[in-house]
Amino acid sequence: MIPTLSAEKIILAPFSMADAPLVQLYVSDPEIARVTQHIPSPYPNGLAEKWISSHLLAFLEQRNVVFSIRSKEGELHGAINLHLDVKNKLGTLGYWMGLPFWNKGYCTDAARRLMRYGFEELLLNKIHARHLAANPASGRVMQKSGMTQEGFLRQHVIKDGAPMDIVEYGVFRDEFLSSSV
Ligand SMILES: CC(C)(COP(=O)(O)OP(=O)(O)OC[C@H]1O[C@@H](n2cnc3c(N)ncnc32)[C@H](O)[C@@H]1OP(=O)(O)O)[C@@H](O)C(=O)NCCC(=O)NCCS
Repeated sequence: MIPTLSAEKIILAPFSMADAPLVQLYVSDPEIARVTQHIPSPYPNGLAEKWISSHLLAFLEQRNVVFSIRSKEGELHGAINLHLDVKNKLGTLGYWMGLPFWNKGYCTDAARRLMRYGFEELLLNKIHARHLAANPASGRVMQKSGMTQEGFLRQHVIKDGAPMDIVEYGVFRDEFLSSSV
């Protein structure tokens, strides 16, 4: 079963179906659509329920580990996931936060905790992540979580019809576990 993990400021817990309306509300914000690549905009009715209902099987099949980011009291703040490539012991980190919870250090706290889980419990060797160069806040989360910039991919994706640069970050197991983050 998907566990619940406690971090310094937040907890990571499985989503429940009752979270669907808030998920739809938060990810429908144009500020989120502006800087992400895989969240549809407009966000269709029913997609949050479909997404939440996919989490358990993805966890059991070791494809993707998805957690809600919540206050210690249980209020939904956002989402974070590790997409798993078991053969290469590689995890790909992704996240979004509801706009009212930005810039409070919550995503960094969540990313550090999930990365620790990925290395210690899932026995990954490396975790990487990438962000649009036009989204420096996400890059800050990666830096503050102990990742190092590994690449700058020029005009690597097309977003809203325009070529966009991508920044690639990563950290490997020994590096993360011996660091102080
Ligand atoms: C990226 C995101 C998850 C960060 O969540 P968060 O909880 O606000 O992150 P944190 O508070 O832990 O850290 C944010 C950092 O970005 C910095 N930041 C915010 N806006 C910034 C900007 N325009 N330029 C540079 N840095 C910025 C903050 O100052 C903070 O860094 P600091 O602690 O050094 O001051 C959130 O902004 C979000 O959901 N964005 C939309 C979805 C998204 O971008 N997902 C990732 C796609 S790769």
